[in-house]
Amino acid sequence: MTGYSKTGFGVSLIGSGSATPAQKVTNDQLALLVETNDEWVTSRTGIRQRRIIGPDESIAELSFKAAHSALKMANWEPESVDLILLATSTPDDLFGMAPKVQSKLGAKHAVAFDLTAACSGFLFALVTASQYLQNGSYKRALIIGSDQLSGWMDWTDRRSCVLFGDGAGALAIEATSKEKESFIGFELRSDGSRGDCLNLSEKRNFVPLIDSFQTQKGGFNTIQMNGQEVYKFAVREVPSLLQNVFDKYAISPDSLDWLLLHQANQRILNAVANRFSIPPEKVLSNLACYGNTSAATIPIMLDEAVRDGRIKAGHLIATSGFGAGLSWGVALFRWNGPF
Ligand code: UT7
Repeated sequence: MTGYSKTGFGVSLIGSGSATPAQKVTNDQLALLVETNDEWVTSRTGIRQRRIIGPDESIAELSFKAAHSALKMANWEPESVDLILLATSTPDDLFGMAPKVQSKLGAKHAVAFDLTAACSGFLFALVTASQYLQNGSYKRALIIGSDQLSGWMDWTDRRSCVLFGDGAGALAIEATSKEKESFIGFELRSDGSRGDCLNLSEKRNFVPLIDSFQTQKGGFNTIQMNGQEVYKFAVREVPSLLQNVFDKYAISPDSLDWLLLHQANQRILNAVANRFSIPPEKVLSNLACYGNTSAATIPIMLDEAVRDGRIKAGHLIATSGFGAGLSWGVALFRWNGPF
């Protein structure tokens, strides 16, 4: 389906997939690298181990595997996909990783491109893709969130290197009739004035070119983070935006089946849930196994809970992504997949 339609369509969320690297690095193993210990990392973050991409793997391959798995769950032929949106801050090619995934999937009729919004990337991509479906431009979209932050870590900085991991997750969404709408609504925010508390910035490295001219030699620094500022930002802004969305769409937090937050820190998850008196058993968490996989946390968590039967068809889910930019967002949807 192509072309703009004023009629308007709904969006159905029907397939999920995920892929994570084989190498597991525990807190005890990281303690061989920096002055830390399992007790500190577990009690302050909830993280027990993270997955790190090894030489036989790549972020493009993990992205493909996650997307392929979502495609299978949705029971789609690759040629039927119209759009592939890949949220990442760490592509294997700065010109874009999504077309590589498209080609490997055999999704030859799809347009594929990358979108960057750090840890909010998957949520921003989900909202972006849903707009194409709701306005009738496209019928089927794959949204992928993947990151390989291990490549940009300062492995001597114990304040940040214990937090992150690598991985990929994906979601298949389809246009449906307005009456069957499952993507209830969203709010997105960004604030560059606070961007300094978390960044992966370019190196300002100028070298002689010709005569008196200089040119910049490309390259990036390692991840720099003011953990306490990011923590305060998350526990302040995420509940505020969730409240905004609950009010806007007349949803009571009691009616949620699941709270699916970006997996940054278990203490952040607990603080947000407490704010709405959402019981711990409704708060999805797999931080202990993967740490913070940036754009991949939400779809990896979703896929895990769909496949182990926790998330069932019709369940109401509130999700929130937040992180560098600073950027943050909330979306409300019902799961429609086959599980
Ligand atoms: O997608 C968003 C990505 N970013 C985040 O989610 C980060 C959000 N922030 C956080 O999760 C938390 O702020 C951290 C987990 C990063 C830090 O926890 P905290 O409770 O805010 O600890 P802190 O920074 O206040 O540090 C407390 C102490 C310090 O020692 P002193 O100065 O009190 O002696 C740190 O040097 O803990 C020390 N410390 C560590 N000790 C052992 C910091 N990192 C470590 C470590 N192991 N890995």
